[in-house]
Amino acid sequence: MTINVKTSSTYDVIIERGLLNDINKYAGKFLENRKALIITDDIVNELYADKISKQINADVFVFENGEKSKNIETLSAIYTVLAKENITRKDIIIALGGGVVGDIAGYAAATWLRGIDYIQIPTTLLAQIDSSVGGKTAIDIPAGKNLVGAFKQPKIVLCDPETLNTLPKNILADGIGEAIKYGLIRDKNLFDLLATHNLDNILTDIDGVITRCVEIKRDIVEADEFEKGERMLLNFGHTLGHAVEKCSNFTIAHGSAVAIGMYLITKKYAPNLTEHVQSCILRYNLPFTADFSVSELLAVIALDKKRAGANISYIVCEEIGSAQIRTEIFENFLQE
Ligand SMILES: NC(=O)c1ccc[n+]([C@@H]2O[C@H](COP(=O)([O-])OP(=O)(O)OC[C@H]3O[C@@H](n4cnc5c(N)ncnc54)[C@H](O)[C@@H]3O)[C@@H](O)[C@H]2O)c1
Ligand SMILES: [Zn+2]
Repeated sequence: MTINVKTSSTYDVIIERGLLNDINKYAGKFLENRKALIITDDIVNELYADKISKQINADVFVFENGEKSKNIETLSAIYTVLAKENITRKDIIIALGGGVVGDIAGYAAATWLRGIDYIQIPTTLLAQIDSSVGGKTAIDIPAGKNLVGAFKQPKIVLCDPETLNTLPKNILADGIGEAIKYGLIRDKNLFDLLATHNLDNILTDIDGVITRCVEIKRDIVEADEFEKGERMLLNFGHTLGHAVEKCSNFTIAHGSAVAIGMYLITKKYAPNLTEHVQSCILRYNLPFTADFSVSELLAVIALDKKRAGANISYIVCEEIGSAQIRTEIFENFLQE
């Protein structure tokens, strides 16, 4: 399955079982006559890097897995390797891994020599359905997550659903949190599919889930590449979710935090859907509440640098398959 994304640059997202065994078939034209550097984390390196580097004769840079590595120190180490390997403007970076790898390798590509090409090879569900598509790249700094970044679209996204077979169940569930979001904001059939599967049998139907999520993301980023309006719909559950991540000192993973965020917003602003959202979340062992009060979460949101002025915008899904952006005075947000 090929999904073409037409943004400031145009590229394909290819979703195909086993494609990692034949990288040149899909991405050969981006690899001819240029050096490639694979950037990955230690876990994905063990699992998949050899297989790919052998086919395309690329060097591999490996960093320690986890959000804690998505920082300026890892970025600096990447720049050092790019310099050492003499990676020029005509060469290419390959981001092989989850969203952490995709975000930091993409940001390195966006900034090295004022921008070189890169390819995304996402290996987590979250990266396959969300972070590898749409061109947002970033690193975290002590003041907050993703505060330093750039829009930089990849040349191609190679998505092999087989890689999900090695993914721990809790990380798979985390990606399902985002898939539930896509269903709620855009596609009742997708939501219904997720709401009738569970963590033990969803992999059987995962190719269709990935395809549908990528199509939805494609539609939204084509309409609003730089998040001036419609792309904000993708932030359903995210304002609260980010606050949950922060309050938990990032021990609650992103997709789980988004599940909590979607549940809290729905409970307040679309109570008729609360049970639907809750029961779907629970099928994947995702949380719907955390140990933090709404006022603790609001205090964190109030500090968020990205929040403009006295108002807050948030997303509400009142009917499964459609969502709206709402704005209200921050003081009234989530209040009785
Ligand atoms: N750019 C965007 O649009 C966007 C969107 C959503 C999230 N994000 C970012 O994505 C990041 C989260 O991504 P993530 O959830 O993929 O986390 P991640 O990259 O940390 O991966 C999670 C864990 O899974 C391991 N892993 C990856 N692939 C594996 C495989 N096939 N088998 C076994 N283990 C594997 C990794 O080593 C890691 O330990 C966050 O930093 C978030 O900010 C970015
Ligand atoms: Zn997200």
